[in-house]
Amino acid sequence: MADYDLIVWNDRLVTGIDKIDEQHQILVSLFNEANTKLTANNKADFLEQMTRDMLIYALYHFEAEEELMHKYGYSEEKTEDVETHIRQHRSFSAKVVAVHNDIKAGILISREDLLSFLNNWLINHILNTDEQLAAFLLASDKYRSDNQR
Ligand SMILES: [Fe+2]
Repeated sequence: MADYDLIVWNDRLVTGIDKIDEQHQILVSLFNEANTKLTANNKADFLEQMTRDMLIYALYHFEAEEELMHKYGYSEEKTEDVETHIRQHRSFSAKVVAVHNDIKAGILISREDLLSFLNNWLINHILNTDEQLAAFLLASDKYRSDNQR
């Protein structure tokens, strides 16, 4: 699979934490929408809007995950994992802000560079970092009793 193929939502991407999975599906849709709409020659306006929308939703999603980390004690029990996790969130945001600022200054990122960054980050982060958080939550009595179905 090339970095800039569409991402097909599949079981491997499911963490088992409903709220996180719903938001990840929205992130994947945003990625796929960008993928479909980006061409070899994008207008600055479009790139600016796309990176802004992506950032806004990503920030909202990171906050939701970080709230879960605090609420269920991940922050206290897995300090190093939390630091790594939050660092990944911040570096994603910083990169998107940098790309957005470049676009505003007239330096347009290519379709391939943008899509491969988003694709790699999203897939690696979900499969590794978010899976660890999910495993912790699923093993937490408090999380389980708060989320009984
Ligand atoms: Fe995350």
